Amino acid sequence: MKGRPLIPFAFIALLGIVLIVAMSAIGVDQRASMDEEEEEPVDIGDPVEYGQGIVESSCITCHANDLGGTASAPAINNLEGQLSHDEIVDIVTNGQGNMPAFGGQLQPEEIDAVAEYLLSMSE
Ligand code: HEC
Repeated sequence: MKGRPLIPFAFIALLGIVLIVAMSAIGVDQRASMDEEEEEPVDIGDPVEYGQGIVESSCITCHANDLGGTASAPAINNLEGQLSHDEIVDIVTNGQGNMPAFGGQLQPEEIDAVAEYLLSMSE
């Protein structure tokens, strides 16, 4: 009589363990596929064209449609000789003064493409 109730308990405990193992296996699996997505490189194609797309959607609000500058932001259509590729990448990634940082929303490859596009404008 004493031993009997133990059987359902053991069964429930076993079921619980199986469930936990199964759920964590699924969790690890999902984790792995999320990591893969993050690491997937952005397909840039032609960097100048790709950079232009980003600039036209993210930068012209402040720097004007022709990037010739507004009262609140300087011209960025003639940077050749003023800023190097790396300096542009740094400013766009980290921001500067009232210029917002884009490092959180753009991938490094995308910011590279933006710098390439901006420098190609002044040639
Ligand atoms: C919210 C407005 C705003 C947006 C959006 C913005 N900028 Fe700027 N940007 C500024 C301001 C303001 C400055 C001047 C910062 C300073 O030096 O005080 C600036 C400066 C710069 C400079 C340095 C120019 C120089 O001669 O020193 C570059 C390059 C630049 N922005 C590129 C970009 C790019 C590329 C984007 C889009 C990805 C962008 N900006 C989006 C406001 C903006």
